Amino acid sequence: MRIVVTGASGQLGKEIAKQGSNHELILTNSDILDITDERNVKSYFNEIKPQAVIHCAAYTNVDGAESDADGAFRLNVVGTQNIAAACLEAGARMVYVSTDYVFDGEKQEAYREFEQVNPQSVYGHTKFQGEQMVRQILGRHYIVRTAWLYGDGNNFVRTMLTLAKKDDTLRVVDDQVGTPTSTVDLTWVIFKLLSSDAYGTYHATCQGQCSWYEFACEIFQQAGKKVNVVPVTTAEFIRPAKRPAHSVLDNYMLRMTIGDPMRTWQEALRDYVARID
Ligand SMILES: NC(=O)c1ccc[n+]([C@@H]2O[C@H](COP(=O)([O-])OP(=O)(O)OC[C@H]3O[C@@H](n4cnc5c(N)ncnc54)[C@H](OP(=O)(O)O)[C@@H]3O)[C@@H](O)[C@H]2O)c1
Repeated sequence: MRIVVTGASGQLGKEIAKQGSNHELILTNSDILDITDERNVKSYFNEIKPQAVIHCAAYTNVDGAESDADGAFRLNVVGTQNIAAACLEAGARMVYVSTDYVFDGEKQEAYREFEQVNPQSVYGHTKFQGEQMVRQILGRHYIVRTAWLYGDGNNFVRTMLTLAKKDDTLRVVDDQVGTPTSTVDLTWVIFKLLSSDAYGTYHATCQGQCSWYEFACEIFQQAGKKVNVVPVTTAEFIRPAKRPAHSVLDNYMLRMTIGDPMRTWQEALRDYVARID
């Protein structure tokens, strides 16, 4: 399959490039394909004629989006609209990667795909509006919501290991619960979905759940580092964007369709920590 990947220099895009060798992958960044530029997107698609697109490009700076709502909207909504419209014209299927931040996190159990969304941040709002663009424009779509993603790039695991080099005590939030997810597992799912006709909305996170504090403790245990991790509350750690308190996702639609191959978050983390440089 000839597949255009947007945001290929991001952490998910890099893993897609690694696992996609059975396909003709066309890796793009904002220099080659600026998704906010409708004419650029149209002419690029006319030239390449993709059969599928994995749309990873996004405004992912959750706190930055609070003071740059137009920038986040331009990338996450208008950019996604441009990609979906170009897919329609090219007859291409599209994977749109979305987020647990579409939910408010007030529910204590895991969210399934068709539950009421209620984003609490600019990032969450724009990612959900992006989902809606895809649903309205293109039938042959896979909307894949994931969470707490880590791979080759800046992420919580790397931040914790870097901070631990300077400080032997770290304060980490213990009242936000979710599921750390490896780009490796998410990429498996994306390619499996793409080779099926099971279009629709999916949750795709690793199995299990933890708080950021528990995540940090597991990282240091697996990395064999002695660090004093102190649990703190969200109220003690003010950030510009509101985070969902309990944003665990249930991979219900994966189980109903192609199966759920995601590993436990601890197992996926072990694999990552063993390979981290
Ligand atoms: N990270 C998480 O914890 C998380 C959680 C849930 C969902 N997600 C979603 O997963 C997807 C992948 O996330 P990620 O962590 O891999 O993101 P990332 O590392 O921040 O990469 C995002 C990419 O978007 C590209 N981009 C920015 N502006 C662009 C433009 N105008 N045109 C084209 N590309 C542009 C950037 O490429 P350039 O460098 O070329 O500008 C960058 O490589 C995103 O849709 C995100 O919303 C992420």
